[in-house]
Amino acid sequence: MIGAKPVQEILMNGLQKLEYRGYDSAGIFVNSARGGRHMVKTVGKIATLASKLTPAADGTMGIGHTRWATNGAPTDANAHPQYSVDERFYLVHNGVITNAAALKAQYLADVPFQSQTDTEVVVQLIAKFVRDDHDTPAAAFYRTLNLLKGSYAFVLADAEDPDTLYAAKNKSPLLIGVGEGAYYVGSDAMAMIDQTKQFIALQDGDVVIMHQDGLTITDLAGDFVHRDEFTAQLDASEISKGTYPYYMLKEIDEQPAVMRRIVDAYLPADGSVSVDPALVQALDQADRLYIVAAGTSYHAGLVGARLFEEVAGLPAEAYLASEFGYHMPLLSQHPFFLLLSQSGETADSREVLVKVKKMGYPVLTMTNTAGSTLSREADYTMLLHAGPEIAVASTKAYTAQIGVQAVLAKALGMYRQQPAANDFALRHQLSIAAAGMQTLVDEKDQIKNLVGQYMPDQHDAFYIGRGADYPLSLEAALKLKEVSYVHTEGFAAGELKHGTIALISEDTPVLAFITDDATAAHTRSNLQETEARGAHTLSIVSEHLAEPTDNIVLPDVDPRLSALVGIIPAQLIAYYTALGKGLDVDKPRNLAKSVTVE
Ligand code: G6P
Repeated sequence: MIGAKPVQEILMNGLQKLEYRGYDSAGIFVNSARGGRHMVKTVGKIATLASKLTPAADGTMGIGHTRWATNGAPTDANAHPQYSVDERFYLVHNGVITNAAALKAQYLADVPFQSQTDTEVVVQLIAKFVRDDHDTPAAAFYRTLNLLKGSYAFVLADAEDPDTLYAAKNKSPLLIGVGEGAYYVGSDAMAMIDQTKQFIALQDGDVVIMHQDGLTITDLAGDFVHRDEFTAQLDASEISKGTYPYYMLKEIDEQPAVMRRIVDAYLPADGSVSVDPALVQALDQADRLYIVAAGTSYHAGLVGARLFEEVAGLPAEAYLASEFGYHMPLLSQHPFFLLLSQSGETADSREVLVKVKKMGYPVLTMTNTAGSTLSREADYTMLLHAGPEIAVASTKAYTAQIGVQAVLAKALGMYRQQPAANDFALRHQLSIAAAGMQTLVDEKDQIKNLVGQYMPDQHDAFYIGRGADYPLSLEAALKLKEVSYVHTEGFAAGELKHGTIALISEDTPVLAFITDDATAAHTRSNLQETEARGAHTLSIVSEHLAEPTDNIVLPDVDPRLSALVGIIPAQLIAYYTALGKGLDVDKPRNLAKSVTVE
């Protein structure tokens, strides 16, 4: 923020509003014309930061940040703002600079570094250009931005110039709040809505220079660009939607933060798993896990079943609640039931719960809704921590269900001393998955373009995959069909040729997931078979298996968690297809968020 009023309290309030995203450290830098500048940053919560502030600080310009560590541990030194060695420039950053190491080697070999962050490379570079080459700060900022590869939302402060604030955006979200005699910059309107309802949404490549009484926006070459102001809606539901046009997009974007909240809730830094010991012991007594759910939750259960088998050595299978309630398979001697339900209210799942409770079997509900029926009536509850999911098409609850099942599988596997569980560094792997998910949501424009090429006027589409990519294909297909009304099927890639390939005609989109080493080559040939029959094929491939002709590259994650990154492009494909058809993305026809009838 830059303005006439003291900013410290406003910055702290803004940071508080973003707490729901998950973070492990926070910091602010405040500056005033009288030289009353100070910086505080710390590991831990906003409250910890608040306790370390100088109450009398009255600077009228300042920047603040909450950080979730991905590269470089959560330490005070790695928290933002990052600052230059001469203590002149202070920078906060969301995103990842992929060529930071190369830039550091090329330009900053003689500069002492105090953190492990890519952000510090950027701020040191700006300072170096000012110090050694006598660039103006603005020139150094542009020059540096033009050297960067990767994603960023930056806000830069110059300790020697309290009347100027610099910002720039590429891929990571950033908007300007326009106040009276003040400007605000934030990654989410939520953080600024107490101060102003007027916003300017920035586009990739925008560079902003703000003073208390005016701002300029240019592209990376320094040429002026015009961005319209808009007024954020004021009613409560709109505020919680922020500046997003639809909840579905907001909820897709929230998924990396949800992963971090799951880590916070269940996976302490010491490598242990924080799950009710009574639950783990009860599960250990079971000889088979029956995962019962509906819709998207069922698809998450299919992924979870593999996790329990691979990580904990417990045989597990997922079932559709609407089938299981009335056509129960022959149960094992010591069954344990896991009910997966975002809402905790689905009638089909409730029916199963009532029946198996009557039979005397233990039940765990994993739900997003504390106090819901399924939670109250089960023996155990684990919460998804996804935050309210409003769009009918489930997105963040799906990835949260996979994350929380992985937590329980890990807890059980450790209790059973399974080598696969001890080797599964879940806290670290979920953080890597969260970073991968972030990269994918930051690159959503690429998906939007692909949708423009593949989806207009299509009646049918197919998702195919093998192994873990098969249940992923089912969920991807459900997403597309439920919001865009394109008839879509998810198929085991090898099965398509046994009948369904007859449906492939000129330009039918066939989308393949390829994340599994063992079957990658087979899935590729299956995709080619459809192409030979006229299909318009699109490949979604893990980085280590990707070829130059692949359409979407997924950042590499632990193979047991590949669905977490794989689903993101599919959710975005569904969203943009529906948007392109002018449909109400959040409320597709005929569907309800919570189905309380059988
Ligand atoms: C409805 C929703 C789906 C959801 C399913 C199961 O059909 O539209 O998005 O997956 O119910 O809901 P639950 O709350 O039990 O996860």
